[in-house]
Amino acid sequence: MNIVVIYGSNRSDRQGIKAARFIINKLSERGHNVELIDSKEYKLPFLDKMHKEYEAGKAPEMMEKAHKLLKNADGFVIVSGEYNHSIPAALKNILDHFQSEYYFKPSATLSYSAGPFGGLRVAVHLRAVLSELGMSSIPTIFPVSAVQNAFDYDGNAIDKNYDSRVVRFIEEFEWYLTALKNQRKAGIPY
Ligand SMILES: Cc1cc2nc3c(=O)[nH]c(=O)nc-3n(C[C@H](O)[C@H](O)[C@H](O)COP(=O)(O)O)c2cc1C
Repeated sequence: MNIVVIYGSNRSDRQGIKAARFIINKLSERGHNVELIDSKEYKLPFLDKMHKEYEAGKAPEMMEKAHKLLKNADGFVIVSGEYNHSIPAALKNILDHFQSEYYFKPSATLSYSAGPFGGLRVAVHLRAVLSELGMSSIPTIFPVSAVQNAFDYDGNAIDKNYDSRVVRFIEEFEWYLTALKNQRKAGIPY
């Protein structure tokens, strides 16, 4: 499957990149083609025009690149920190630039925080946004507490529990990836 991991934090000391690399490694090991859209690399402007508001092919280069990846994706993993109990602006800014690229595809949320609660509050907020964007959210959330200590910068688990916990999360996501891909082949309502 083609999977796009979306991560938004522009902080110089950001920790969530470790979690993004962890899930990219795990999905790649299972044979998926995984791409990362990272706010720091893509540097999308603070929302002016959505991608669809540009003439075809005239959007800024990195917005066009993100559009192509999202359009070709079979599903998305949203890697989200918790800022004041909600969604980091840099992540929401990426999400808001696109729309139909997400439709009829599943999303899985990996939430994290520096503290013990693993960003569960942002995961609940995200669900409302992800449904509005048409990327159905799978039931399981993958919360990571004390993210700074959970993985190294290459995305290897320091806390080995994450290696076993992630299997069920990915298997569930794969089920939805397959189910919705088959159904998209049969046709979409709009
Ligand atoms: C603006 C801001 C707000 C935060 N709010 C919360 C919060 O509500 N709950 C929480 O558990 N951690 C909170 N934190 C701590 C983050 O969980 C921690 O800094 C995490 O590493 C942020 O993700 P990032 O490093 O990928 O940017 C906050 C951090 C920032 C910078």
